[in-house]
Amino acid sequence: MSKCWKKYLLWFAQEHIEFRIAEIESLLSLFKIDMRYDEKPLNQEPFWLVEFTSETDAQLLASRSVSLRNCIELWGRANSLEHLHSTLKAKRDLFVPHFHSQKSFKIEVETFGKHFSQNEKVSKLETFDYLPLQGKVKLKNPDVCLQYIEYYGNKHLNPPELPYEIFFGKLIASGLRQLIQKLSLKTRKFIGNTTMDPQLSLLMANQAQIQSGDIILDPFVGSGSLLVAAAEFGAYVFGSDIDYLMLHGKTKPSRIKQKKRAEDENVYANMKQYHLESQYLDVLISDFTTIFWKPSMQFDAIITDPPYGIREATERVGTEKSNYVVSEEHLATHVPAKIEYGIPIIYRDLLVFASKHLKVSGKLVCWFPVFREDYNEECLPTHPCLKLIANCEQPLSKVTSRRLLTFEKTRPPSIEELNIEYSTIQDFRDKYFTIREESRKEKRLKNASLKKENWEKYMTNKNAVEVHK
Ligand SMILES: C[S@@+](CC[C@H](N)C(=O)[O-])C[C@H]1O[C@@H](n2cnc3c(N)ncnc32)[C@H](O)[C@@H]1O
Repeated sequence: MSKCWKKYLLWFAQEHIEFRIAEIESLLSLFKIDMRYDEKPLNQEPFWLVEFTSETDAQLLASRSVSLRNCIELWGRANSLEHLHSTLKAKRDLFVPHFHSQKSFKIEVETFGKHFSQNEKVSKLETFDYLPLQGKVKLKNPDVCLQYIEYYGNKHLNPPELPYEIFFGKLIASGLRQLIQKLSLKTRKFIGNTTMDPQLSLLMANQAQIQSGDIILDPFVGSGSLLVAAAEFGAYVFGSDIDYLMLHGKTKPSRIKQKKRAEDENVYANMKQYHLESQYLDVLISDFTTIFWKPSMQFDAIITDPPYGIREATERVGTEKSNYVVSEEHLATHVPAKIEYGIPIIYRDLLVFASKHLKVSGKLVCWFPVFREDYNEECLPTHPCLKLIANCEQPLSKVTSRRLLTFEKTRPPSIEELNIEYSTIQDFRDKYFTIREESRKEKRLKNASLKKENWEKYMTNKNAVEVHK
């Protein structure tokens, strides 16, 4: 039997646009949803015109997407209000089943790219009086919510007089935007200097295709924001980190106005705050280079943000001294020394670890910092058992960005593949500090030459005054 496709409008938030396609594709594959494009989506536009074979599929997609604001069953699309009305009037009878006297309703008027006053919105709304609406108007949680949207393009400062597009339809489902608010860092109990923002953490969890009951790991866990996102989607979460003070909530507070950390600030307190204690397995103080997991331990996903060495150190336990031995009497109180853990080595270790400890088809989702001018796919970390399936950029400055990489484990590794050479990827940290030093030096020279110039001007003026006297 041939499938019956229906048209829907997906309306997105204009935030982290670069992650949108990857998130939706990941969720379609997770839920095995058939979706086809009615029109090729344009990168900067907030809407997609798509088709699903069932409303349940559209609802399922919306139930997990953080990029999506609304999903609307499309009843009409036009480039003028008159055209929209004539389209809707021709289909009027098709709408009757949606409205009967027992069903409350509301019509929302939205504009994108141009502001309208409430009165202007109401006057647009009144033009829909021919719809067969019989029930009562209910502004909060109506049975049927209709949406009328005028799209004026992306150039907010100079919108056209008339909209480019007008859409009308029935709201089917809203995305998960409210979860971003719930997990806001402003109200979170425990945060650190490199805590990941909730929207990006949730996007990472969606890239990892986390499902209820999964076991996931963040081996550079910090304040545990990625664990919170994964736990929200039902995963059981583990983390580890080299920083004892961080995991015990004893570092300097990250909030400007906070003088001292509260006694109970830690990853578990965050889990409690969001009622996710049941999903928390543990966080352990551990250097990533000394792996303590049983070889048979398999995670459903690994999501992580390794250190870049800019706002936190890239260190591992070790010493430059050869044949260093800790004497018996110092063993109990010995605090191990740390040495530099370069970015190429961190990513080599991470990919080798994932090839070993991910289940086949499990995902490794991690950030990777780059200099934009140097970027090409060849500079990304690779492993023969991990296939790169998504790669999205988040610009950090004019010259730097980080890329969210999603790898899928395709097969178990051979013994040689567990001992691959250090990768030849660029050390972001080295270049970052070299460039910073160069630009500081340039600034110092500029300041010195400016001072010299001013001094010379001053002396010339002074001499001129003295001669005049
Ligand atoms: C970018 S931060 C992670 C932040 C975290 N996603 C959060 O939301 O708070 C990187 C973390 O890696 C940890 N780290 C650095 N070197 C490490 C190592 N050798 N082994 C384990 N963790 C390490 C740091 O202590 C830091 O907490």
